[in-house]
Amino acid sequence: MNTEIPKGSANPISFHRKILVLFAHPSVERSEANRPLAQAAARTEGITLVDLYAEYPTFVIDVDREQKRLLAHDVVVFLHPLYWYSTPSILKEWQDLVLEHDFAYGSKGTALHGKIFFSAITAGGTETAYCQEGYNHFTIRQLFQPLEQMAMLCGMIYLPPFALFGARTAVEEGRIEGHVADWVRVLKALRDDRMDIEAARELSKLNVELDSILKED
Ligand SMILES: Cc1cc2nc3c(=O)[nH]c(=O)nc-3n(C[C@H](O)[C@H](O)[C@H](O)COP(=O)(O)O)c2cc1C
Repeated sequence: MNTEIPKGSANPISFHRKILVLFAHPSVERSEANRPLAQAAARTEGITLVDLYAEYPTFVIDVDREQKRLLAHDVVVFLHPLYWYSTPSILKEWQDLVLEHDFAYGSKGTALHGKIFFSAITAGGTETAYCQEGYNHFTIRQLFQPLEQMAMLCGMIYLPPFALFGARTAVEEGRIEGHVADWVRVLKALRDDRMDIEAARELSKLNVELDSILKED
């Protein structure tokens, strides 16, 4: 099985927004849901895909390099499976080290102001489990409030998570192709300024009704 994630394409065309996808999966060779999402992002023009576990197998994150990457992009996306209602641990390490005072927050920390942030997640649980009455008790947007507040503290524009539920059966149930196609639509629309950002901000998840927030090419 080819598990290699190609590097984001070099980009001679000038797009409206540059998008940085920070991908975190600790065992990508066993991934069914995230691997095609990462591969599709890497194949899309104007998207930079960074495989954090591949770049930092010992968790020694190059803070300077990561901060330069952030400065060079307009949209930052965390792409990952949901692990214990949160991110895989390398993304927490990345936050702890890269989002420094006087860079990302604080009176002189304006580097991320105006950039867009959202998470693209896959969850093993079904969508019906992610509500007050379900066994997970909270919606995915509620569970991601620490990331929402991280973005707000850093002066970023927060969008709700782009989410796939029931991820472990998505391939056998034939749901992955449509989800990957929606993901590419979202990335291209953000890249080309074809998303109604104000409407998107209010949604429970980004892919709840894409036709209402995306203008087609
Ligand atoms: C350590 C670990 C923690 C997990 N925590 C959750 C969780 O909190 N909620 C959930 O719905 N699924 C959870 N899962 C299931 C994964 O989210 C699911 O296997 C993954 O999204 C499938 O994507 P993949 O095929 O790319 O690995 C967890 C899986 C692992 C291994």
